[in-house]
Amino acid sequence: MATLPVDELFELEASALEATDAAGELESLAEVEREYLGKKGSIRRQMRRLGQLDQSDRPAFGKAVNDVATRVEARLTERRASLKAAEREAALEAPNFDPTLPGITVGQGALHPLTLIDWRLDEIFRSMGFYVLDYPEVDSEYFNFEGLNIPADHPARDMQDTFWLTNGQLLRTHTSAGQVRTMREFAPPFKAIFPGRVFRYESTDASHDHTFHQVEGIYIDREVSVAHLISSMKTLLSEVFGREVKVRLRPGYFPFVEPGFELDISCLVCGGDGCSVCKQSGWVELLPCGLIHPNVLRAGGLDPDEWQGWAFGLGMSRLVMMRYQIEDIRHLLGGDVRFWSQFTGTGLE
Ligand code: PHE
Repeated sequence: MATLPVDELFELEASALEATDAAGELESLAEVEREYLGKKGSIRRQMRRLGQLDQSDRPAFGKAVNDVATRVEARLTERRASLKAAEREAALEAPNFDPTLPGITVGQGALHPLTLIDWRLDEIFRSMGFYVLDYPEVDSEYFNFEGLNIPADHPARDMQDTFWLTNGQLLRTHTSAGQVRTMREFAPPFKAIFPGRVFRYESTDASHDHTFHQVEGIYIDREVSVAHLISSMKTLLSEVFGREVKVRLRPGYFPFVEPGFELDISCLVCGGDGCSVCKQSGWVELLPCGLIHPNVLRAGGLDPDEWQGWAFGLGMSRLVMMRYQIEDIRHLLGGDVRFWSQFTGTGLE
């Protein structure tokens, strides 16, 4: 076997290793790497000699070049790590390095108070055995009015001015639009809440916005009572506020409940003295509710002789205002980050 022309190759290896060990900083190390292992580096260039060798010697010589390259590469990697470590060490020891300087603060995000209350309500109602559901904001005239015992010529339609879409659908004016849907969807007995946005075509002021939030609640069973409805509502309010709140019950008219009620709470923004939120009355309408009208049960496919139900439509936006003493509803969806970054916590503590 002819002797391979490896002398020059091994000399190159020796000088590459020596240069690697001698490099005192990362920059000169990179230079060594380029010089020996770069595309035009001297070790790679050895490959060109393959052409001058006997066919039979080529594989062995090619392997020798690759082995040398691998060994030099390994030594470079090792040297790079130790130079880096030394560099870090030196930086820490330098007299102008102050590890006690404050870092760059990343601003903390905050949850919107509507989200805080929404989560809290979910938790309270789930613990009471309610499903938490979601229904469409764009809905039909049927689910928003007709199915709720509000026929086309009924004056109650004017109670809630409506945003109509050109295709004949509407933006739901209340979460009650989900009532008939739930009855068709679930086998009674069941309890459910469905929170969400509702829309009304009306002018805005401190206590009215065109878009706001409600939480509908519905309970269907063989026998339900006003007493049970009212006690459930009181439990809900004391859970949300963490204490007893003063309430008053008045008769209220809604075509989809009979009897219907307005449950008011003493205004927590002014403590009952009178302010723009309670329109100087000291009371805030928060929880309209009642026993579900037989026509609505029928629309939901339930026989009113067999099933009864109660429903409520909690004004979630108002609840948020009471809970956090916010004096103008328009702050809620005004989009000013400075507004909601004032409210902290998860609402679940
Ligand atoms: N949907 C009614 C409203 O928005 C409130 C309501 C809900 C009343 C359920 C009774 C029962 O004004």
